[in-house]
Amino acid sequence: MAEFMVVGVIGAGQMGSGIAQLAAVAGSDVWLLDKDDRALNSAKASITNSIQRFVSKGQMSKEVGINALARLKYTSNLEDLRSADIVIEAIVESEDVKKKLFAELDKIVKGSAILASNTSSISITRIATATKRPHQVIGMHFMNPPPLMKLVEIIRGADTSDETFNATKTLAERFGKTVVCSQDYSGFIVNRILMPMINEAFHVLYTGVATKEDIDAGMKLGTNQPMGPLELADFIGLDVCLSILKVLHDGLGDAKYAPCPLLVQYVDAGRVGRKRVAKRMTPQ
Ligand code: CAA
Ligand code: NAD
Repeated sequence: MAEFMVVGVIGAGQMGSGIAQLAAVAGSDVWLLDKDDRALNSAKASITNSIQRFVSKGQMSKEVGINALARLKYTSNLEDLRSADIVIEAIVESEDVKKKLFAELDKIVKGSAILASNTSSISITRIATATKRPHQVIGMHFMNPPPLMKLVEIIRGADTSDETFNATKTLAERFGKTVVCSQDYSGFIVNRILMPMINEAFHVLYTGVATKEDIDAGMKLGTNQPMGPLELADFIGLDVCLSILKVLHDGLGDAKYAPCPLLVQYVDAGRVGRKRVAKRMTPQ
């Protein structure tokens, strides 16, 4: 069974930073990579802040927190991931961009390394075709925010081996997560069900049925969710929600997944949610 002494995480946004934190707290040496230095700096600040919150509440010992911070290294050079036993990719939700990265990674990391994607919706089977190691490619889908949410959804591509699946499941459990398994169809389990709800909330707003406050209060208080669907979309990132809906629409071929025009317009306007503004100004 792989020990995962060294974990690489690519993409230091809201998901990658949380995943890197989990790996460091679990005892691995971690390389967190982003092409953007600002993302690396803000990841460092948010990981430090998150660990401090756990420590100050007595949910993590000071020693574990300090050691985890010392195990994290930040880079924008892919070659630094050469020693990784597993690389978990959490970059933009685009099949073409992910495939390009997996093809590059495949040439750099050691032959035994697992390549995992935190994709929300994209086919693991197709991402794996960009590599010469489809048996070692898998979906490892964390929920936002990774340090708090209890679930990891694992997705096996058509060629993912039992060994890769078992090792990835063990790692997710070492992170303290419960694992559910999905077949490799667009959106897997969670987003196949969650995104139509979020999209419908945008339709309810778009067609003037209710205000955004009443939509969120209705669902939050009426169905006991921690956030209403519009607040949750804002938290996930409207750009991410739109990308997932497009994958569902293309992959499952059903008009019910067509993104609401209001959601599309918000993203076109750069209003992508609380994580950042004017994302469209930053070419990926
Ligand atoms: N690290 C450490 N602690 C954190 C934290 C972090 N990153 N984020 C929040 N916290 C702590 C806060 O310090 C706070 O602690 P206290 O209660 O002790 O003060 C506690 O968590 C609650 O945080 P907040 O008061 O800021 O806000 P909240 O009560 O609304 O909780 C939340 C925040 C946990 C995110 C909660 O709102 C929630 O569960 N929301 C729904 C999240 C969800 O559904 N995620 C899944 C999205 S779908 C997905 O991820 C898949 C996909 O592909 C899109
Ligand atoms: P994000 O925009 O917050 O972060 C993405 C980061 O990746 C950015 O810092 C960007 O600079 C970096 N990046 C983009 N292309 C890169 C490349 N080629 N090489 C190196 N770095 C690159 O995005 P996020 O919300 O963290 O989402 C990341 C992935 O996780 C997506 O696939 C998304 O679907 C998935 N996901 C998101 C959520 C969520 O709630 N936001 C939940 C689960 C899964």
